[in-house]
Amino acid sequence: MEDMFVDQADMFEAIVAGANDDPESAAFFKTIVRRFGASDRGTLEFGCGNGRWAEILAGASAFYVGVDLSQALLSKALHRKVPNAFFIHADFFAIPSEFAPVGIANIVRCFTSLGYFPKQEEARFFANCRSLVGDGMLLIDSFNGDWFRKNGDLKRNRVLASGTEFHETYLHDPERDCVKSTWRYSGGASEDCVIDFELECYSPRSAEKMLTAAGWQTVARFSEYRLDSECATIGPDCERMILVCNPR
Ligand SMILES: C[S@@+](CC[C@H](N)C(=O)[O-])C[C@H]1O[C@@H](n2cnc3c(N)ncnc32)[C@H](O)[C@@H]1O
Repeated sequence: MEDMFVDQADMFEAIVAGANDDPESAAFFKTIVRRFGASDRGTLEFGCGNGRWAEILAGASAFYVGVDLSQALLSKALHRKVPNAFFIHADFFAIPSEFAPVGIANIVRCFTSLGYFPKQEEARFFANCRSLVGDGMLLIDSFNGDWFRKNGDLKRNRVLASGTEFHETYLHDPERDCVKSTWRYSGGASEDCVIDFELECYSPRSAEKMLTAAGWQTVARFSEYRLDSECATIGPDCERMILVCNPR
């Protein structure tokens, strides 16, 4: 994580620039918070990165708190100067359950897939989220392990606004059921850089099983940050899964 979000914070910002900055994403969060959470209370985002969701989430609820481990990304978040948004530099695995932030009812973790972290840590994290909100909601998203099981590998390239080429390679290892991933930056003003990481595959079923064990019940499923992507089940053709939960 260090290399992706601390050393290469500028690159990560360039990757997500403009992504989901659309009226559909704002409408999505407004509706989800109103339908499953509480728009008159606060939203806590774990892994807020450069705060690209801060304005939307602060607008969808009473206030917003973003938590991230990367000081570099948090400085970018602060520069946005979103009213009603606050940022905390912390490890989201180390947030004590008694932290109980006053007035928080909605917890989200956007674009931080399951599979980056050891299973037991994830299970504890979601149980902790459950004790942070008595009622309210949790939204998580992840790549869909079933997509890789069906389709195998994924490779894509694009040129970022800075001129740097961004190459993504995700290779499914069927024996270990994980995805060997490489992000490579080349060209542009900065030095070429390669970041390797491995992601364990979670299917929608295994993700929901873990959430259930942590005290959550999945109440809505989407394949994108758009209301019209809602589905009864996440199939293997969906690259991502977005799960919205209420306490069980
Ligand atoms: C894939 S990025 C997503 C950022 C943001 N949610 C977005 O949609 O752009 C993952 C984020 O989680 C943060 N992160 C990873 N592990 C963390 C931890 N243990 N505690 C707090 N933040 C963490 C990283 O610094 C990074 O900003």
